[in-house]
Amino acid sequence: MIVVTGATGQLGRLVIKHLISKVDASNIIAAVRTPEKAGDLSALAVQVREADYSRPETLKTAFAGAEKIILISSSELGQRAEQHMNVIEAAKSEGVSLIAYTSLLHADTSPLGLAAEHIETEKYLKESGVPFVLLRNGWYTENYLASVASSIEHGAFIGSAGKGKISSAAREDYAQAAAVVLTSEEPQAGKVHELAGDQSYTLTDLAALISRESSKEIPYVNLPEHEFKGALVGAGLPEPFAALLANSDTGASKGGLFDEQGELSSLIGRSTTNLSEMIKAVLA
Ligand SMILES: NC(=O)c1ccc[n+]([C@@H]2O[C@H](COP(=O)([O-])OP(=O)(O)OC[C@H]3O[C@@H](n4cnc5c(N)ncnc54)[C@H](OP(=O)(O)O)[C@@H]3O)[C@@H](O)[C@H]2O)c1
Repeated sequence: MIVVTGATGQLGRLVIKHLISKVDASNIIAAVRTPEKAGDLSALAVQVREADYSRPETLKTAFAGAEKIILISSSELGQRAEQHMNVIEAAKSEGVSLIAYTSLLHADTSPLGLAAEHIETEKYLKESGVPFVLLRNGWYTENYLASVASSIEHGAFIGSAGKGKISSAAREDYAQAAAVVLTSEEPQAGKVHELAGDQSYTLTDLAALISRESSKEIPYVNLPEHEFKGALVGAGLPEPFAALLANSDTGASKGGLFDEQGELSSLIGRSTTNLSEMIKAVLA
């Protein structure tokens, strides 16, 4: 039995999709905070169980009979370390043979503020004694694609990443890698997978691609972190999320989202999803 937590999220759904292509759906448990959102997952014949990271009593029941668990990091910033500890404790008490955790690229040396909760979780995993594998996911390309429409509307792509190169990949790529790791014949306990896209680009490169695909001149405008954050708040993003994105861009300017080891494409046995194709899809 393989449990996927956060299974109603965007990454979780894709992990389930890829797992179903490898193992029988009846051996997959979709562990979800909100079962009402999981009707489509039930329709795939996977078992849906309630699992709220903040309610430990739901976790033990959700993990009963599990052999492996993929802990998809929570989206509730600031609460994540404690929530992940709850998951690890429940997994331990159910005697699982492997926890795969979706951490952050180069979490141990990352300049991104986001890394702190991942480092804490990785430390807790080590101390727990439960066998674990780290899926240190790089940036989702989708994070930047969310700004394509507004960049065209405003005539500029803004950010704080300077000349930092970003090796992002699609959620689809990371999800497939997770399914490969969870079903691998090769022992995974103790492994650290640094996962990033095959193409590395600066935001200037990204703006040039948007310009080419949209046939409009969209320059990249680099802003100090506080100005970028202010622009995101002005565009309607909640302050903590705007702060996170702006801080992550500054981290990218220091090389925090760059990696050219090619481990992701090697795991999934294909190139990571092409950036231009993703931009085209957004514009379409
Ligand atoms: N590498 C990157 O670029 C990047 C970018 C964004 C996020 N992330 C991380 O990757 C994770 C997955 O990404 P995503 O795109 O799939 O995010 P997402 O679509 O926002 O999904 C997050 C999932 O976490 C679940 N969740 C939140 N709080 C929970 C709780 N207390 N108990 C149980 N489940 C809870 C949500 O449940 P509901 O469906 O009930 O809301 C949802 O299913 C994120 O949560 C975040 O940690 C990484």
